Amino acid sequence: MSASPNQTLAAGVVDPERIARLFPSDFVWGVATSAFQIEGTDATDGRGASIWDTFCERPGTIIDGTDGREACQHVRHWEADLDLIASLGLTHYRFSIAWPRVQPLGQGAWNDAGLAFYDRLVDGMLARGIQPHVTLYHWDLPEALQTLGGWQSRATVDRFVDYARRIGALLGDRAATIATHNEPWVVATLGHQQGIFAPGLKSRAAAAQVAHHLLLSHGAALTALRADGVSAKLGIVLNQAPVHPATALVEDRTKARLDDGELVRWYMDPLFNGHYPADVWDTLGADAPVVEAGDFETIRAPLDFLGINYYTRNIAIAHGTYDPRSSGLELTDMGWEVYPAGLTELLTRLHRDYTLPPLYITENGAAYPDQLVGGRVQDDARIRYLGSHLQAVAMARDAGVDVRGYFAWSLLDNFEWAHGYSKRFGIVHVDYATQQRTPKASALWYRELLRAFRDRRGGVVRRVQEREPG
Ligand code: FCB
Repeated sequence: MSASPNQTLAAGVVDPERIARLFPSDFVWGVATSAFQIEGTDATDGRGASIWDTFCERPGTIIDGTDGREACQHVRHWEADLDLIASLGLTHYRFSIAWPRVQPLGQGAWNDAGLAFYDRLVDGMLARGIQPHVTLYHWDLPEALQTLGGWQSRATVDRFVDYARRIGALLGDRAATIATHNEPWVVATLGHQQGIFAPGLKSRAAAAQVAHHLLLSHGAALTALRADGVSAKLGIVLNQAPVHPATALVEDRTKARLDDGELVRWYMDPLFNGHYPADVWDTLGADAPVVEAGDFETIRAPLDFLGINYYTRNIAIAHGTYDPRSSGLELTDMGWEVYPAGLTELLTRLHRDYTLPPLYITENGAAYPDQLVGGRVQDDARIRYLGSHLQAVAMARDAGVDVRGYFAWSLLDNFEWAHGYSKRFGIVHVDYATQQRTPKASALWYRELLRAFRDRRGGVVRRVQEREPG
């Protein structure tokens, strides 16, 4: 019997020394968070409301009835949080800027206290030897812009460019990378079509127009930042996955192709080839977005990097719903299949179908029902998850895909959107009542991996020096 792709990944995935050896000496190791999920939303420093503040107020939107008000109180604990990152041996940190913290109404006046917060945060990273990776938009649109139409309005594209340039002026020479958007598919589809994320709309036409405006704002911001001479590498972050049909039936395979079109090609085709995929466009019919002359040229502005967020594969089913328990695969606390082979499959497919810039895995991780017992969290399942996905990245690299780095999601347990605080993705446990942080076993494992990686790199440098004459 031949081994399944996931089984071939299983051997040795938790040995940090072995994983470290799979990557080149300049590989980037990091950890990721986003503003709304960790910061806390205390308005006393002049922060404006975001669409997630108002979405949380609507009954029934967040599973546990919580909101972002407290979160991890990162605004108060940011120095300790940066110390924590440094103590794990991590040298790269991906975080996002809360637009309403720096520009409360999304246009007009800037909030000096908000700008100063990110200014200090970035200096704090550099002082600790941590390179900043900035995301401009991780879903927290200023509420004031939503009342003007939000991402459905083309005017929001211009607002975003203004905001991007202000952040570029502030951080552009200190940040290693700046990503315009995080996961535009989520904003468009979950936020505007399925209504399960802010702003909670249920319109396919709205979602399609929003997707177009997000892509347009990405290209316009990137071009503006480049013209401003920002030295950070510029890119975008997409959530991507291979889409597998639930069965071999023609209906399921047709659905899988269309789902792939909506998730992967709807974003990749315009970014790299300057058009939308014809099959998805045709399916949209009258719901297809308004595209103006020149938009595709703006969208396909060359990227310095592409960020990929990967959690699981997607299953397409034409009729009824797919039950992930039927696969026999291990599931995370989100009910998502643990499917590392999907990451190799995705990366090699993107490499085959597009001319890619360097890639970073900007998010990868898993939620588990972690328990703090006697001051420890023994999250072995997460270690297996991270290790097997790193191995999947290494396999893609071996197949010629230029993946330069990996960011674990997430540094801290945090506000997991519609799941509130009920799902824990952190490698560091957060006790929300006391705001106490406790590195889980997975954080200590990641630290071991980085130590092995550095030792090996040091060894290589030493061997080269020893060979040099004199
Ligand atoms: C991604 C989001 C991130 C986090 C993870 C679990 O879609 O970018 O904020 O919620 O999922």
